[in-house]
Amino acid sequence: MRHMIDPLDFSTEEISALLDVADDIQRRPDCYAHLCAGKKLATLFYEPSTRTRLSFEAAMLNLGGSVLGFSSADSSSAAKGESIADTIRVISCYADICAIRHPKEGAPLVASQFSAIPVINAGDGGHQHPTQTLTDLLTIRSLKGSLGGLTIGLCGDLKFGRTVHSLIKSLARYPDMHFVLISPSELRTPDYIVREVLQANGIDYLEAERLEDVIAKLDILYMTRVQRERFFNEEDYVRLKDSYILDEAKLRLAKEDMAVLHPLPRVNEIAVEVDKDPRAAYFKQVQYGVYVRMALILNLLGLEAQAC
Ligand code: NCD
Repeated sequence: MRHMIDPLDFSTEEISALLDVADDIQRRPDCYAHLCAGKKLATLFYEPSTRTRLSFEAAMLNLGGSVLGFSSADSSSAAKGESIADTIRVISCYADICAIRHPKEGAPLVASQFSAIPVINAGDGGHQHPTQTLTDLLTIRSLKGSLGGLTIGLCGDLKFGRTVHSLIKSLARYPDMHFVLISPSELRTPDYIVREVLQANGIDYLEAERLEDVIAKLDILYMTRVQRERFFNEEDYVRLKDSYILDEAKLRLAKEDMAVLHPLPRVNEIAVEVDKDPRAAYFKQVQYGVYVRMALILNLLGLEAQAC
């Protein structure tokens, strides 16, 4: 039995095969509409979410399966003091696969060690978010034709943003990637990512504080929200929250074919006027998230598309 806890749990060959299935799902959704009939997905969300939880649920419903779960810690037995190890043993009796989001780093990994069903990490604290990364990889491959040979700017809260950590780890495995890490000094990429992922593999990267200084060289700009819930005090959040606002004026400095991605939710970091720019790809990205989660659910359940 396999789980998806860390973005590197799948090799680049396996990721490529998964993205191929996601592409096929997009082309021929009817062939996939009943593959999970009789199967159940449990969504255990101990932290707020709109996209990720509904995207998993939509994915399972598109495959003909059913869903059950909870969407806040208060409405689950965690409020009574139940451990994640016990919860997952119970859920294993109700469902065939589960997706867990938890505020504590490592909680989905612990769950996977006690689980009788495949566990998917749907975000653990400020750590990792591997299925957002699959979404990002599918979006990038669809827009740019391949993974590799690209200059990507990651901008905003690179310290607490788990989507950024997972995406850097994953993209660092592809050839000729260049990273531009754009953040205020307080929200820089954690040392363990810079040292163990970028420096250790001799990957080209640059740290910058001003988006305007570097935007012209980017093929992809990955904007992120300042992660209010992970700050220790509100004053720091208020001071840093509007560090970057992407608007039409800044976009005029960028390449004609640069793609703007964002895992969403957006707060202020992308002005609404950017939505109509052809380079804005963040709502397309949401749609790709459903296809790739469908492909992942099939993979972890050991199901394949039948001839159709
Ligand atoms: C992200 C997350 O939860 O880390 N959202 C998502 O899953 N699409 C990004 C965020 O909350 O800023």
